[in-house]
Amino acid sequence: MDGLAPVRVLRIGHRPGRDERTTTHVGLTARALGADGVVLAGSAADRAETIASVTDRFGGPFAVETTDDPLAYIADADEAVVHLTMYGLPIQDRLPQLRDRHRSDGDSSDGGQSLLVVVGASKVPFEVYERADWNLAVTNQPHSEIAALAVFLDRLYRGEELDREWVDADRAVVPRATGKRVEDR
Ligand SMILES: C[S@@+](CC[C@H](N)C(=O)[O-])C[C@H]1O[C@@H](n2cnc3c(N)ncnc32)[C@H](O)[C@@H]1O
Repeated sequence: MDGLAPVRVLRIGHRPGRDERTTTHVGLTARALGADGVVLAGSAADRAETIASVTDRFGGPFAVETTDDPLAYIADADEAVVHLTMYGLPIQDRLPQLRDRHRSDGDSSDGGQSLLVVVGASKVPFEVYERADWNLAVTNQPHSEIAALAVFLDRLYRGEELDREWVDADRAVVPRATGKRVEDR
């Protein structure tokens, strides 16, 4: 988001066939709720075009990257690594501290800590838990990477992402109480 240190989301463990829709929705949720980009690993890269085409039509900025080696990607990350997992520490206890570091007490994007947010699909290798700077749980109950990511981003940005401006959109939805209206830009 504008004025804040970058946040990227890395999707790992994608299973071809089974996870196509979920992986696409991880990317679309990351984009809609203020992340700066998504990194798709291995065969999840097939979803890159779908996510990029939404950005082309409805605006950005939002980067879609791919990697063949997500574990090396995480190991080498310059960002603080946030792993969303039901086994982690409660997000509500840890997020104030993480948010302060990300915002660097309200300084510009140069000052804050960039984040790489990792979400899984199938079983996440233990080395991710060990490498992560933050293993955070959105409740300690099993649910979904899409839901966990949405709650995390909304809490990180304190809801400010809902008012974000979109750049280079071909079209935009005009909010209406009933019906649907989309305008060309
Ligand atoms: C369907 S879960 C499968 C997790 C898998 N059983 C494991 O042991 O890692 C897929 C992803 O959803 C996310 N997730 C599910 N429940 C979560 C929770 N309560 N808090 C945070 N993330 C969660 C995690 O990123 C997880 O890797």
